[in-house]
Amino acid sequence: MTPWQSRFSPYASRVTPSAIFELTTMPRAPDTINLGPGEPDASMFPVGALTKVLSQTLQTSSVAQRALQYTVNAGYPQLRQKICDYMRTKGVACSVENILVTNGAQQALDLLTELFVRPSTKVVVQAPTYPGALGVFKADGAEVVSIDQHKKSPRDDIALIYATANFHNPTGTSLSLEERRELIALAHMSSTVLVEDDPYETISLDGTPSHSMLSLELHERSIEDAHTIYVSTFSKSAAPGLRVGWVVAPAVIIERLTLLKQSEDLQAGTLAQVAVAGAMDFIMQEHVPRLRDAYRARRDTMLSALIENFGNDVQWTQPAGGFFIWLSLPPEINTSVLLSRAALEGVTYVPGSAFSHDGSFSNALRLSYSSVGTPLISEGVRRLAAVVRGAE
Ligand SMILES: Cc1ncc(COP(=O)(O)O)c(C=O)c1O
Repeated sequence: MTPWQSRFSPYASRVTPSAIFELTTMPRAPDTINLGPGEPDASMFPVGALTKVLSQTLQTSSVAQRALQYTVNAGYPQLRQKICDYMRTKGVACSVENILVTNGAQQALDLLTELFVRPSTKVVVQAPTYPGALGVFKADGAEVVSIDQHKKSPRDDIALIYATANFHNPTGTSLSLEERRELIALAHMSSTVLVEDDPYETISLDGTPSHSMLSLELHERSIEDAHTIYVSTFSKSAAPGLRVGWVVAPAVIIERLTLLKQSEDLQAGTLAQVAVAGAMDFIMQEHVPRLRDAYRARRDTMLSALIENFGNDVQWTQPAGGFFIWLSLPPEINTSVLLSRAALEGVTYVPGSAFSHDGSFSNALRLSYSSVGTPLISEGVRRLAAVVRGAE
């Protein structure tokens, strides 16, 4: 240990590197097909719409000055209003006091953890789950348990429940109405919050609009009494480099989260918020339908390639949206070990254990169809199947 390492805070020492980042640094064949990272396709970013808004903004000096100035900590007012209007179209009756704009959904998860989680309290998650959330919960010293583990030995001190109901990362699946109701009931029974992370809600591929757990809860009570706190982002519908996400919660929670955000980074970047506010109607009405068409073709290609290349000993999910398919291989195959061979054979994925709070899912893996064109998806799955056959 170097002298500096011994001076790092306990919090900093609990922060671990992301398995997905590590993927980018491992040795690999020169023409490797990356089915690991869950990035949107950069060639589909709404560059034209953003250019139009930004050039109009920067051309007029009074408008440019506003867009380059600090703004309200809770978010650029026009964007907060637009998000509020959008949430209303999704069955969430709320006002701007219920909205906080964040630097992506990731910051929202971090702020919510800061607000609700004390060391050694329990956070209940789906298993598998999004590693970015697991990392935040663990860094804050929470004891992370799965919903099933919690059901086997229920305890009262749940600090937070974390779940994605639509097009889950990493499985691509969605919760049934019954499962959604159960999570809302658990939040009420435990007097705690249900953090609903919904970044893929726009990427519905089979024509059925996605509904949030928050909208379901609002059938019964007002936003101010809701236990579901909603988190989403423009990272998947527009571009992750904008770093614009949002939280919908009771006003008293938004107020306190805003204070936390203020002490962390004051506000999300004004210019990015101005760009999103100006392009939002185009993004939701015209851009998202195009994304759906492209991602649907990729999902279908990946599902066909899986059928073509894998036998009955491998199972996979059938996502109705989002970016991911989750594969379960025979139990003796360790996908973390297999990954370095796969990379040398020209294909990457994310090993299942990266999505686990307790090291399980060692025989599973996540494939992403979002950032690779259809011919490469077919070839990537073919390479993966050959590597898996070699390991059996
Ligand atoms: C489930 C989930 N939550 C949050 C995030 C973070 O999103 P953002 O780019 O808005 O920080 C991601 C990104 O992949 C995600 O998959």
